[in-house]
Amino acid sequence: MSLPGPTINPYDELPFPSQPLPQSHPDRLAAIGRLFGMQPPPVERCRVLELGCATGGNLIPMAEALDDSRFVGIDYSQAQVLAAQHSAAALKLENLELRCADIGDLGDELGSFDYIICHGVFAWVPPALQDKILSICQRSLTPQGIAYISYNTYPGWHLRSVVREVLSEHALGASAKDRLARGKAVLEFLAAAMEQEQTPYARLMKDDIKLVLAQPDAYVYHEYMEADNNPLYLHEFVERVADFGLGYLGDAAPATMFASNFGPTIERQLMQIANDVVGVEQHLDLLRNRGFRQTLLCRKEVPLTRKLEPERLQSLYLRGYLKTEKLMVNLKSTEPERFNKTQGLGISTPSPPLKAALMHLSQRWPRACSLDELTEAAGRLLGDEGAPRELSHADRVNLGHNLVQCLASGLVDALASPDRFTTALTEKPRASRLARFQAGRMKKVTNCCHELIELDDAARNVLQYLDGQHDRAALVRELTEAVDRGDVSILVEGLPATRGAAVASALENTLDASLKNLARMACLVA
Ligand SMILES: C[S@@+](CC[C@H](N)C(=O)[O-])C[C@H]1O[C@@H](n2cnc3c(N)ncnc32)[C@H](O)[C@@H]1O
Repeated sequence: MSLPGPTINPYDELPFPSQPLPQSHPDRLAAIGRLFGMQPPPVERCRVLELGCATGGNLIPMAEALDDSRFVGIDYSQAQVLAAQHSAAALKLENLELRCADIGDLGDELGSFDYIICHGVFAWVPPALQDKILSICQRSLTPQGIAYISYNTYPGWHLRSVVREVLSEHALGASAKDRLARGKAVLEFLAAAMEQEQTPYARLMKDDIKLVLAQPDAYVYHEYMEADNNPLYLHEFVERVADFGLGYLGDAAPATMFASNFGPTIERQLMQIANDVVGVEQHLDLLRNRGFRQTLLCRKEVPLTRKLEPERLQSLYLRGYLKTEKLMVNLKSTEPERFNKTQGLGISTPSPPLKAALMHLSQRWPRACSLDELTEAAGRLLGDEGAPRELSHADRVNLGHNLVQCLASGLVDALASPDRFTTALTEKPRASRLARFQAGRMKKVTNCCHELIELDDAARNVLQYLDGQHDRAALVRELTEAVDRGDVSILVEGLPATRGAAVASALENTLDASLKNLARMACLVA
């Protein structure tokens, strides 16, 4: 059945809820580049292009945090670019250019870039535009630059294609909103009609439909109902980019690259079946039924070394928060201890230096630390009161190898630059301009780790006033006045308070907790 096309740009009608994507931040891209032997340009002074930047949720926080870097965002949805420009102007960002343009019309005028980001665009545009995206990377990427391109992939999208077909083939209507409403009604009908069915097909479909219906409307429309949706296998994508002088650097989530995460038997068998990095990862995609990829590319001629060597950690900063299973951990014994990141993702280790290093990282969270700092801290934790233990050469070498393993399994993350935030509470705390701006307008804000975080109302109220000019007394005064004006509402003993001493005293009581909360969530720059 052929459908009447939408009359206006669907992204104008249903703007995409764009948000910070930590995995696309140049700090992460550069770290992965360094891990595999590249010398990517310094993040503090780089040029970044985002193709399909929507409302700037990803690019604006980067531009705000990295004053000496330059950012260009391109999107053809006028409504979205206007919203992005409005935020950028309110934040007085002079290092960010947001342009309403069709990617297909771009020439060489943009210049060269050290990092190119294209998230949520490639699989949803026609092949000619895909070629254009790759040719922009080919022409504009600096010699050690890195491009990040995400796309839908197989085998995960085989089943999702059924849901897409249901949504797009049965949803007639002139506007995106009409088509979406009709498509969702068909999905609801199918889920209800299959309610009692227990066949493998019915179970898979019901699960998929449930997942889709739980997503925001704009996401469902653009993910499942755009005219184009062309998933690719990883090997197809890598073959395609080679025609544009580009090569596969790695995945934005490096832990997904290593067969060792499936255990030694599977790793050994896989090494016999697949003969290169892409072949191995393609098989891992089959094992995981992967449906989405975030692929990093570099120039084809850049030499890469995929073997993870501990020396590579020297130029990186590690970050991780792991919980121990026991309340009290004996760091000095060689009794194995388990450290867990999430359920099912953890490590058991008898090694005192590794136990101490992981303990230090967790205590330091959300801050990152260099390998030297980590080694020193491990020595401190393993020493006696006031007398740190000097780690032997063998201990250091083993610690390096163990940390590389933690990185490869996704227990810790690597960044290319030191933290740009503090967890210490100063007399007059300061949050980023962006976080203050967002705190007054929305429930979620972008923290200094380029993550979208949800704050409670008390923390959001305080955040708006953290400009480095207010001590605690001044903060209580400002907030009391804001409550008096009706700009801010607070609860005293569960009831909304309006004015007077009760408000000031309630604010005094909660202020420290809110500040600590904001510091712990990486919202303070000073
Ligand atoms: C699914 S959204 C992803 C937005 C953003 N990158 C993110 O991940 O939040 C796709 C974006 O690409 C933009 N886009 C699609 N085709 C385009 C084209 N030919 N030229 C410019 N922008 C385009 C859309 O307007 C939309 O903002």
